Amino acid sequence: MEKPLQFDVIASCSTTRARTSLMKLPHYTVETPVFMPVGTKGSVKSVLPEQLENINCQIILGNTYHLGLRPGVELLKKAKGLHNFMGWKRALLTDSGGFQMVSLLHMAEINEQGVNFESPYDGTKSLLTPEKSIQIQNAIGADIIMQLDDVVPTTSKDNERMEEATYRTTRWLDRCLSAHERPNEQNIFPIVQGGLIEHLRKLSANLHLERKVNGYAIGGLSGGEAKEDFWKMVLLSTQMLPGDKPKYVMGVGFAVDLVICCALGADMFDCVFPTRTARFGCALTSSGQISLRHKKFRMDFGPIEKNCSCSTCKTYTRAYIHQIVTSEAVSCNLLSVHNLNYQMQLMKGIRESIKVNKFPEFVQQFMINMYPNKN
Ligand code: GUN
Ligand code: ZN
Repeated sequence: MEKPLQFDVIASCSTTRARTSLMKLPHYTVETPVFMPVGTKGSVKSVLPEQLENINCQIILGNTYHLGLRPGVELLKKAKGLHNFMGWKRALLTDSGGFQMVSLLHMAEINEQGVNFESPYDGTKSLLTPEKSIQIQNAIGADIIMQLDDVVPTTSKDNERMEEATYRTTRWLDRCLSAHERPNEQNIFPIVQGGLIEHLRKLSANLHLERKVNGYAIGGLSGGEAKEDFWKMVLLSTQMLPGDKPKYVMGVGFAVDLVICCALGADMFDCVFPTRTARFGCALTSSGQISLRHKKFRMDFGPIEKNCSCSTCKTYTRAYIHQIVTSEAVSCNLLSVHNLNYQMQLMKGIRESIKVNKFPEFVQQFMINMYPNKN
């Protein structure tokens, strides 16, 4: 039986840990390093699946916690999975739900059984267990599904709690692996935890290495810790995980973090940032973010970014987007398409530079554009 994930490294940078690969999944062959836009409730907010295809988006992310509440397992099964339900033909990954509940809802309470939470829709209490998370993810049918993990914010000073969460995450991984009913079609990724504590990160990676899986995630980061600590933990994790399997750093989406994490050996990323910032009227460019709400754009008849390949920049000006940005819903579509295209082009630039062994030059040019010397 062929595995539901084949990972072939095409080229590696000779001076950093960056690599580019083909990751063959049941619904699509993804080129890595890859950025995955977030479609929490079964839709990448304000962007259509055909627009995602047009900007060459290869894989998107859904959330078990939201989709399990609405539309729920019964409807998802009737709809023959989320791909079919939402009209998305390419690859899909679902996050397990615990992190969203803990980070979004402060009312979530964690114990050995799972995560207790209140539905934001009707206030009813439910328990999300590792088994339940996998049952929902089996009904959603994504190419990659995530284990339920016990996430403690990196800013926590409670080392005992961090240690408990690290061991519990592995116990929950084993419960997820036992509950998985579609191992020939869907890949479970374990999540390395351990906060910023070096020996716990190593322990977590080592425990997960003993399980038979096709890829790994690095979690619990990008939550307000210092950049040096973040990079150190990413590197420590990528060094311990096997070179012939994909490594996914969860919750990363700022351009500079994507570039650096690629250099540290990561292959996959997701974040709400590009679409969320679009809804606040912000556009991503090679020289940083701009707010189209600013009145300086009132008579600016150029595109958001010169030479941008997206449909927004081909047709609409900064002045026009400024005109509609605070009042018209369609402006969210225009800005989200541009911002996601920016992320896709950035990742493509990284992949292409690795193929011709010019990744360090790419990083240098990226930094010059993003942080020009303002003297
Ligand atoms: N998204 C961002 N970080 C995490 C994490 O640590 N765990 C999970 N499940 N999702 C995340
Ligand atoms: Zn554009």
